[in-house]
Amino acid sequence: MNGLVFEGPGARSWTSVPDPSIEQATDALVRIDSTTICGTDLHILKGDVPEVRPGTILGHEAVGTVVETGPSVSTIAAGDRVLISCITSCGRCRFCREGHYGLCVGGGGWIFGHLIDGLQAEYARVPFADTSVYKLPEHLSDEQVLFLADILPTAFEVGVVNGRVEPGDTVAIVGAGPIGLAAVLTAKLFTPSRIIAIDLSDARLARALDFGADVVINNGHTDATRSVLELTDGLGADVAMEAVGIPETFELCAELIRPGGRVANIGVHGRAADLHLEKPWIRDVTITTGLVDTTSTPRLLRLISEGRLDATPFATHRFPLADAMDAYEVFAAPEDTGALKVVLEREPVERKRKVVEEPVEALA
Ligand SMILES: NC(=O)c1ccc[n+]([C@@H]2O[C@H](COP(=O)([O-])OP(=O)(O)OC[C@H]3O[C@@H](n4cnc5c(N)ncnc54)[C@H](O)[C@@H]3O)[C@@H](O)[C@H]2O)c1
Ligand SMILES: [Zn+2]
Ligand SMILES: [Zn+2]
Repeated sequence: MNGLVFEGPGARSWTSVPDPSIEQATDALVRIDSTTICGTDLHILKGDVPEVRPGTILGHEAVGTVVETGPSVSTIAAGDRVLISCITSCGRCRFCREGHYGLCVGGGGWIFGHLIDGLQAEYARVPFADTSVYKLPEHLSDEQVLFLADILPTAFEVGVVNGRVEPGDTVAIVGAGPIGLAAVLTAKLFTPSRIIAIDLSDARLARALDFGADVVINNGHTDATRSVLELTDGLGADVAMEAVGIPETFELCAELIRPGGRVANIGVHGRAADLHLEKPWIRDVTITTGLVDTTSTPRLLRLISEGRLDATPFATHRFPLADAMDAYEVFAAPEDTGALKVVLEREPVERKRKVVEEPVEALA
């Protein structure tokens, strides 16, 4: 089969690799139907995640069809359509038993495209299949559910739930990339009175308005803290979510919350950020961090299934899986391409469309 292989810092290729097979009794073999690229894949390509060995297939988000299951897999079978999530759960370790799948110490956690071969390939071996994949309802398209593999549960759990967004809250979200926009989308589930999106890019802020933000602030030329204080009678936001991953934006979040407010950090930080404890020590603030656990995936899937949540606007570009190399170019240059998420599909996009069009032509 073919897959998108990390060839060492700065290098990737779409190339022929050995077919995966069942290795453990708990594995499933899945044909990948749709997959997507994450900012984390770009970090790996830059060499920021040194534990990823050259030769590893990248990708940790996919929708696929089960081809074969190991002898102890009992809840899915060949032919089932499943979501493969960025987080795998062994189902047995202390953390998995407590619902902290992201912290799994039994061989799960974030493993795809990291510690084992990932999902940007024609087929994938999926460990702990019973406790790690989600069967999908027939009526939902791949694109409706694909973003449940990472950005939706990440923004919802690490941003909205950790930040304890409540009805009527003023929520400030710093960073309007896919994660920040998914935080805008899922914060609305709790009916805040106002969502303020803050970013340096006007294009990204325009998307934040599309996704449901009420106010946008470009902190490149506006003092964001002062603007938020003005909007909140001098108090500050109830909740601030950090969705960039740099010291400046964490410090901004800590500045713009009200006494008793909550800062939910989502960004992955590579450098130390200052916490000015001399200011918030007396203000009863809560600061949370976290890796996504994906425990909210079934809940978010029900919301999508019932039409209460629509993540399809994240899909800005589509490519056949075999054109993964081009897809990376588009995804890595969002200021030129406007990309949020690029969808890689097993069936070439054109061919899929034709199947839908043919009966209409036949009628005419
Ligand atoms: N905690 C988790 O489990 C988890 C999971 C996935 C991703 N993440 C992290 O979430 C963060 C966001 O991910 P993404 O894919 O949306 O990233 P992204 O790079 O696509 O978006 C980041 C956004 O931040 C904006 N930005 C950059 N500097 C800024 C500044 N100084 N002030 C305001 N805005 C600024 C950019 O214009 C961009 O729109 C990343 O750090 C990513 O690694 C965390
Ligand atoms: Zn990811
Ligand atoms: Zn575990």
